[in-house]
Amino acid sequence: MAGCRLVRVGRVCGIVGYVGHRQALDVVLGGLRRMEYRGYDSAGVAVLDGRGELTVERKAGRLANLEAELELAGPGRFTGTAGMGHTRWATHGAPVDRNSHPHSDAKGRVAVVHNGIIENFAGLRAELEAAGVELTSDTDTETTAHLIARAYDAGPTAGDLPASVRAVCRRLEGAFTLVVTHADQPGLIVAARRSSPLVVGVGQGETFVASDVAAFIEHTRDAVELGQDQVVVITRDGYTVTDFAGEPAQAKPFRVNWDLSAAEKGGHEYFMLKEIEEQPEALANTLRGHFTDGRVILDEQRLSDQDLRDVDKVFVVACGSAYHSGLVAKYAIEHWTRLPVEVELASEFRYRDPVLDRDTLVVAVSQSGETADTLEAVRHAREQKARVLAVCNTNGAQIPRESDAVLYTHAGPEIGVASTKAFLAQIAANYLVGLAVAQARGTKYSDEVAREFAELEAMPAAVHRVLSTVEQVRALGRDMASSKAVLFLGRHVGFPVALEGALKLKELAYMHAEGFAAGELKHGPIALIESGLPVVVVMPSPKGRAVLHAKLVSNISEIQARGARTIVIAEEGDETVRPFADELVEVPAVPTLLQPLVSTVPLQVLAAEIARTRGYDVDKPRNLAKSVTVE
Ligand code: M6R
Repeated sequence: MAGCRLVRVGRVCGIVGYVGHRQALDVVLGGLRRMEYRGYDSAGVAVLDGRGELTVERKAGRLANLEAELELAGPGRFTGTAGMGHTRWATHGAPVDRNSHPHSDAKGRVAVVHNGIIENFAGLRAELEAAGVELTSDTDTETTAHLIARAYDAGPTAGDLPASVRAVCRRLEGAFTLVVTHADQPGLIVAARRSSPLVVGVGQGETFVASDVAAFIEHTRDAVELGQDQVVVITRDGYTVTDFAGEPAQAKPFRVNWDLSAAEKGGHEYFMLKEIEEQPEALANTLRGHFTDGRVILDEQRLSDQDLRDVDKVFVVACGSAYHSGLVAKYAIEHWTRLPVEVELASEFRYRDPVLDRDTLVVAVSQSGETADTLEAVRHAREQKARVLAVCNTNGAQIPRESDAVLYTHAGPEIGVASTKAFLAQIAANYLVGLAVAQARGTKYSDEVAREFAELEAMPAAVHRVLSTVEQVRALGRDMASSKAVLFLGRHVGFPVALEGALKLKELAYMHAEGFAAGELKHGPIALIESGLPVVVVMPSPKGRAVLHAKLVSNISEIQARGARTIVIAEEGDETVRPFADELVEVPAVPTLLQPLVSTVPLQVLAAEIARTRGYDVDKPRNLAKSVTVE
């Protein structure tokens, strides 16, 4: 059966491995705490002591459950300076103890943690069962533990853990990161990756592997980005990288440009609340260095000006909030470049045979850079010869690796599952793409590009002002916490903001929320309006968009007349709308295309406060994980 496409068993998980001079359990648990945003269905650790003993503990539920279990086990059971850990988001195979990682072979000599999908696991499982191996979980991962143990015990790779891991990797199909230990090899850990994230952290007398640099940022900022189909062996003295065939391979060192404080709550109750406050900085960092000598400059721009001049249409592909950032940017990119811009849900893109050729620019927007749907859209676009530019917040992630060019958002680590600062940074970065294309195509004069950039540069201060006035929104959130549903309305760039506001409320507060283009209201949704229903309206500027403003005022009066409770986000000094607003939230006046950067912020705060009031975990909403590496 190997080679067939079988049921997808996948997960978005956080994995960490350590060899060094400290107690591995402390390091591994610290890493897991900072990676729990990647999944919180179960957690587990394995520690190797220097005498050939491998101790494993794993527990369904949040990391706190595992920590309680470890506490019960008492100190001493987990001494050792090499170890690994895992935090899981289950998509198949119930989140119970026996499906939790690490998985082991029958003798308990090998431990494996895994992120990704082994698509041919059913065939491998059947092969193992035919050989008399008893599998104790429903996962694909367990097969790798048995296969590695067998490769290590006999045959051409006997006694050689890296070679055994490589041999098994050559047989695996799908996307995976594996971290492997063997009780006979206490001084080393082997890790492998294909289409799933893995970075190495290089410290003084200690080395780390992890899904995310956040896992080891406390100890070192020197990191190495592994390439596709590479295996790394870490010891306390360093690391060596090969391909799956065992040939030496190159990996890319880099220095992490943020520190531990960025990955910690810094006194906030939730990461999301901290990340909302970090938005001015995220915007400033994303824009910094992108306007030099009168020109907009992109980052790793492997597209020439001629390539950009040749572009005759643009697709933005993304999921969730990143998709909404594309919807916002469409207005600006079309306006500045005079090119048609399509914004597509990445999960739909490649299934509808989009018209792509080498003059198509596909902008793939992803905070994590590992979203499976967006990655597949990138692959599809490149197969069709389109040029792909990634907008990404994660250095060296798979999506930028597979794209022709990359523009990094420098929002810093976003730990809360709900996207906030990354969303605002994505809008800014998408705008930079629009300006770069307009500049190359000559649809904007250089002084116009400079003016647009200067307006963008003023946005961190504007967002800062919004943040200083959100207490009113918090009070409103507490007041709305018992509502059954909330509608969001907007027009023009306010429409994607309405969609984003509704998404935030759904994912955080588990409340029915819908975003509509206000003009669509009378084509159906107005039937939803009933007495007391909260409707959040994102107003355009009365000066910048007077016609739209007038139309939206009419829409508000229509819903108010039918009993809705209107909550209006409007520009400071917008007196016309005041009589129609049961609650008025004012945001600073900014150019129309930049309005989403200020009007989204109150909606984030509102959703977070409603979720808090309802007693939900704002950072870890149920059923979700930060990166979605399954389709
Ligand atoms: O990492 P990505 O930007 O590719 O993630 C895309 C979506 O999964 C993400 O924006 C998701 O919708 C957020 N939870 C929304 O807050």
